[in-house]
Amino acid sequence: STDLVEQAKKSAAYKAVDENFPESAKVVGIGSGSTVIYVAERLGQLRNKSGFVCIPTGFQSKQLIIDNGLSLGSIEQYSNIDIAFDGADEVDTDLNLIKGGGACLFQEKLVAIASKQFIVVADYRKRSPSKLGIQWTKGVPIEIVPNSYAKITNDLYDLGAKKVILRQGGSSKAGPVVTDNNNFLIDADFGEIADPVKLHTQIKLLVGVVETGLFTDITTKAYFGEENGQVGVLT
Ligand code: A5P
Repeated sequence: STDLVEQAKKSAAYKAVDENFPESAKVVGIGSGSTVIYVAERLGQLRNKSGFVCIPTGFQSKQLIIDNGLSLGSIEQYSNIDIAFDGADEVDTDLNLIKGGGACLFQEKLVAIASKQFIVVADYRKRSPSKLGIQWTKGVPIEIVPNSYAKITNDLYDLGAKKVILRQGGSSKAGPVVTDNNNFLIDADFGEIADPVKLHTQIKLLVGVVETGLFTDITTKAYFGEENGQVGVLT
């Protein structure tokens, strides 16, 4: 049920903060999505919350920082981040991720690679039993420069994609989703992904691709809220 999922998100986020947040942290990355809401909530409860600055990964993330009484900074001011927390759309057994379901993948990756520790928080639905592309079947999110979408769509089919979609705003917007960086997003379904590093590299080389939602060799640990109320940790 949705209550169980919500509780799982909260448990994972609280435990991730409680077990990993260094008292000495000065710069903290805050991801995007519905799970990281609970990370910001937990950080907002800390007594020393004025002792560190938080770096957002998009508009929603910035609002979370402000709403929880945390100090806001930018990645341009602070490119050495002590620890960052973020959600994921799928996590495989090697800690590779698919991200970008919330359209924030570019800034999320920028913050993630600038962080000494990158901690993922998620509910049990995000945990793949093996490879990527099993739990998350909407495809790999790819941020692109707008006028390159037709060419990139063809190129992605050539790379073996089964289905390529220019993400649409749906009932809330006629036409494509526009990211926080004024770009478009493509969702490219490659089925089960045998080699995420190779696929990321192939996609990234296409002209017009800003970044892909494949996060490889970045994650330190992942916390999963389980259906039974427990929290599992993958390292
Ligand atoms: C944003 O672009 C995504 O990468 C999110 O981090 C991801 O979709 C996780 O969001 P939820 O915590 O809402 O599932």
